[in-house]
Amino acid sequence: MIKSNNFGFNHIFINSSHDKEYDEGNKKLTLVLLHGTGGNEEDLIFLGKKIEPNASILSPRGKVLENNMPRFFRRLSEGVFDIEDLHIRSHELADFIQKCSFHYKFNLEKTIAIGFSNGANIAVSMLFLRPEVLQGAILFRAMVPFIPESLPNLLNKKILLSAGVQDPIVSRNETENLYSLFQKTNAITTLKWQPSSHNLIQKDILVAKSWVSNNFPV
Ligand code: MLT
Repeated sequence: MIKSNNFGFNHIFINSSHDKEYDEGNKKLTLVLLHGTGGNEEDLIFLGKKIEPNASILSPRGKVLENNMPRFFRRLSEGVFDIEDLHIRSHELADFIQKCSFHYKFNLEKTIAIGFSNGANIAVSMLFLRPEVLQGAILFRAMVPFIPESLPNLLNKKILLSAGVQDPIVSRNETENLYSLFQKTNAITTLKWQPSSHNLIQKDILVAKSWVSNNFPV
């Protein structure tokens, strides 16, 4: 495990267990883990390991502080985002992922984000603004962070939305809007409803695990 503050973010990088394959064209999966408000780069490591133990992991800490709680972009109040900051932070994070892919030698075509809440929201934003850095995403409790002026073409990208039926922060309507936006981008999008609130439950992990093994076999 490497802990570093290079390339603009405190982060953890864990190389997958099959190092020798790196010389043969970076065939393996890398998970970019994006935590929720108040989390850090350690938070989702267990989740990434459960979802795909053979993948490499890149886990940055969000740089915006809200009452000392790390986030990936500023918000004005709950669910009301600072769109200018979100755009800047999305490009900054995408640049970071790109630099890490050169430095740690992983393939962006085999890289997916796993985001929870605020982390899922910036992952959506990166898919809209900088789709070249992700081949797909698992989005737990994601919102529509903004509606892009022109939708990107996300043909061949794969997206799993895992939403909570009793989520007080992300309404059913919001989730359905996000799902139909992604469908308009041509992404292969799956929506799964969990019997849960904003928090993750065991079923989120099971659904994500089988989605990864079906869509991104290592
Ligand atoms: C956000 O700010 O991204 C969403 O409201 C989710 C959260 O972090 O609470």
